[in-house]
Amino acid sequence: MSNLFVFLGIVLLAHTHADHPLPYERDFPEVNFDFSVASRNAALYRLPQNVIPVEYDVYLDLYFDERTDRPYSYDGKVDIVIQAVEENVQQIVLHANVDTIHSVSLMRNNIPHPLNVANPVQIRPEYHFIIINLDEDLEVAVNYTLTIEYENEMNEGPMKRGIWRGWYIDDNGVERVYATTHFQPYNARQAFPCWDEPLFKAVFRLHISRPINYSGVFSNTGIEYIRLFENTRVQDNFFATPRMSSYLVTFLVSETFQVIAQDTTHNPPIRIIGRSNTVGMANRTLELTVKMTEFFDEYFEIPYSTLHPHLFNDHVSSPDWASAGTENWGMVSYRELYMITSPRETLMSVEHYSATLISHELAHKWFGNLITCYWWSNTWINEGFASYFGYIATNEVFGTYELDEHFNNRYLQTSLSFDSSVSTVPMNHEVNTPAEVTGHFGTISYSKAAAFLRMTVSMITKETFRKTCQYFLTDNAYEATNQTHLLNAFLKAISEDNTLSAYQHFNFTNYYNIWVNQPGYPILNVDIDHTTGDMSLSQERFFISSSATPTEQVTYPIPITYSTESSPTFGNLTPVYIMDVPNIVLTKNPGEEWVIFNNLQHGHYRVNYDERTWNLIADALYNNPNSTHYLNRAQIVDDVFALMRSGRMSYNFGFQILKFLRTEVNYHVWDPAISGYTWLRNRLRHLPEKQAEFDAFILSYLEHAIEYYGYETSSSESPTHTMTRQIILHFACQIGHEGCVRESRHRFVAYRNNQFVCAETDGSSSECVNDSTEIYSWVNIGVRRNVYVIGVKEGTDVDFEFMVNLANTTNYANDQLEMLRALGAAKDPLLLTRYLELTLTKFVRSHDKANSFTYALLGNQENANTVLQFVKNHIDEMRIAYVEDSPARPVHTCLSNLAAYLDGAGLQEYEAWLHSTQSDSAQYATAISAISSARANMQWGTTNADTVLAAARGGSTKVVMSLAMLLIMATLALVA
Ligand SMILES: *[C@@H]1O[C@H](CO)[C@@H](O)[C@H](O)[C@H]1NC(C)=O
Ligand SMILES: *[C@@H]1O[C@H](CO)[C@@H](O)[C@H](O)[C@H]1NC(C)=O
Ligand SMILES: [Zn+2]
Repeated sequence: MSNLFVFLGIVLLAHTHADHPLPYERDFPEVNFDFSVASRNAALYRLPQNVIPVEYDVYLDLYFDERTDRPYSYDGKVDIVIQAVEENVQQIVLHANVDTIHSVSLMRNNIPHPLNVANPVQIRPEYHFIIINLDEDLEVAVNYTLTIEYENEMNEGPMKRGIWRGWYIDDNGVERVYATTHFQPYNARQAFPCWDEPLFKAVFRLHISRPINYSGVFSNTGIEYIRLFENTRVQDNFFATPRMSSYLVTFLVSETFQVIAQDTTHNPPIRIIGRSNTVGMANRTLELTVKMTEFFDEYFEIPYSTLHPHLFNDHVSSPDWASAGTENWGMVSYRELYMITSPRETLMSVEHYSATLISHELAHKWFGNLITCYWWSNTWINEGFASYFGYIATNEVFGTYELDEHFNNRYLQTSLSFDSSVSTVPMNHEVNTPAEVTGHFGTISYSKAAAFLRMTVSMITKETFRKTCQYFLTDNAYEATNQTHLLNAFLKAISEDNTLSAYQHFNFTNYYNIWVNQPGYPILNVDIDHTTGDMSLSQERFFISSSATPTEQVTYPIPITYSTESSPTFGNLTPVYIMDVPNIVLTKNPGEEWVIFNNLQHGHYRVNYDERTWNLIADALYNNPNSTHYLNRAQIVDDVFALMRSGRMSYNFGFQILKFLRTEVNYHVWDPAISGYTWLRNRLRHLPEKQAEFDAFILSYLEHAIEYYGYETSSSESPTHTMTRQIILHFACQIGHEGCVRESRHRFVAYRNNQFVCAETDGSSSECVNDSTEIYSWVNIGVRRNVYVIGVKEGTDVDFEFMVNLANTTNYANDQLEMLRALGAAKDPLLLTRYLELTLTKFVRSHDKANSFTYALLGNQENANTVLQFVKNHIDEMRIAYVEDSPARPVHTCLSNLAAYLDGAGLQEYEAWLHSTQSDSAQYATAISAISSARANMQWGTTNADTVLAAARGGSTKVVMSLAMLLIMATLALVA
């Protein structure tokens, strides 16, 4: 199941440069729960386990606009075969979150089992419980059938999940409505009463009736038989599903959705399903799906076709989807953005993400569907494996994306950043309430878990890991599992292969327990005596805040790898030692040389060195960068920014180490550098002159990379090359690189001139005459983001309207999203307000609304005040349009992001308005806390600006020299 974190620093980073602000299914903000106020009775949210469901027949009669009194609603009935698994059961408790329950009955062999006459049924809405009180105990291990009749409405749009309706425009320009489901993690109970926890696996049979013209119908399994009612309605009766968790049930009912690409040589056929006007546009998606299915078939040795006879392998491209994708068994659904792609219309970063997403969801067919985490406290067992395979398995098949390398910033560095806060939680972390469950679909369960698995693979070998997966899946197939089952599979495989024999005293159980059950991670302190070669290593937990202190001292078992100048073994990922003690001494050859720990940054830890060793590293990076591996240069950049922020390294010293960036062109190295610089420059926003000086410093470092990548793509360049250009130019344009701005604006105007006949409107306007007479029929996808953004930012209402019109006509979700980002950069308050008003309409799909709002803050620094006025005037409309009470909490996100961009006066105005008009609102506390974070960030900037700038000046002496040289040369040229 993204992207907008409560931690403001992270919000800004995620949005300023990340191209994949949607880590998979997680589309929720990173909520930081204050567990001290979490309900003392939190466990009351859990169902008792004395009764289990065996089999469901779910009857849903769907109505669109046929019933004028209740449009977009459904009548439902479930027959659930249940069994008591304990004696003395007098009460049946299950989930239901529907409008009205009409009847409840319980039968045994068609004979009613008596309910309590005085109090047969209780509804506990706060827990989504329906409680059925019985007059007589249930007999153990005997089948009873529980029947419940009810009615409910379809939610409007995807945000609230459950059964909801979305929309699309068909070939003929007609708007069509479709109904589908999104149940993960606790929303099946909105569709039908059920035991809505993953451990209650059962068989489901769906019976869906719908108007006859809604013939595009899909579900987990195939249709067994059809019944026709009154010539106007049809009931599709689907085959029983495998034994599975309730959140994996799904269907889609539409007028014109159809198979848009398929491979029928597989059993089941592999199909991509989408709206009719995307036929033929999913061939690349199909190729990914086919090849990854084949890969997993072979890797797990449990072929997809053997999972269940009636299970489909369908993949739905949904115009509306609350997350990036959701792994319902047999029918995965994705946001259309990631399914309908084209090399001409899809940014490489999105194409890249889409490859990892499809593979992630397919991996869930085994990890998540076949076996499932017992409860959401162990979400990491589903999400960690799917995230690991999403990169590592895809890399085996589609090597050109270099995903094993991109894993580092996508998962490892993301986790190191998030997991260094005081409030971080362990991978295995108790959650109870829906909000807590939602919050655990976060960085820890995805990124840390994936990084933990990869670190473990380096220790136990790929083959033993594969065997672990096979044991785990085979021994627990169709069951719910917990971390002990997984540990057992590891131990079995490790002991069979004897893969840890080189580490005599190492205890794998201990390693596993600590990493799974303890929060945080260590920093390895390295102190080298270069004369003797003795390397003293010590560890402690790493906190990003310099004032944080650990509550208890944890010794994390750390797999140690390292490279030296005389032995640069970067590719060797097998640990030389597993350090499960606080201190040890390792020895290398005597002699002064650089030493870098954590080869290719495969271990989940940071490293700090003694000053001498840092200087040796800095020298190598500066004078002979290619003697090091770029993934370790990336690691050093990531670690140095964290060390500076945590007060373990001075800015002066850190910036000396980072001086090598001025000749760097590698993606992996620049990505954490852009994050680190962005974090700093965001704290100088209220000091425009200082920020300008800092920007000039960053730009001088970017210059070489900008020149290296240029503005034209070549058909032979690698995906990573294209992505590097994208992040470099977007960042450069954003901080005002003159060449980038000029070139981007030029391209925009040339494109607009092709699409837009100036003479027809006002041929004399300056937009038509001055800018360019060139005509481009296409904006190169490699530079499209900055061309669009700068085009609108530096343009006028003509450019704005041009972009609005294009956004209304493009058939590509990605192109449309880039246009929204561009419109948010409009500087003119009237245009920006118009853009924000458009976010309240269908112009922006509900899943894009919070991001679109944030684009208005990101696009141009001066926009925040206009956004504030918009919020003050439209807060009530925002609450409705953005769906404030959806799990993603989009309005919380928006109000919190706004604070991060306001200046001092703006914050005061914002705070006063919140105090006087919003103190009863759901977002009040979040917004107030965002204001104090924003003030703290400013305060940090005010306190540290001179230190940071002095460090920057120190780090850039060489660059200043060369600029001066250029000036002299230019002068000489003039004279000649
Ligand atoms: C209970 O119902 C299930 C599902 O219909 C069936 O497979 C099973 O045989 C039944 N058990 C008993 C004891 O009747
Ligand atoms: C390994 O560690 C676990 C707990 O972390 C402990 O229970 C077990 O006894 C240890 N095994 C050995 C052989 O020391
Ligand atoms: Zn997932």
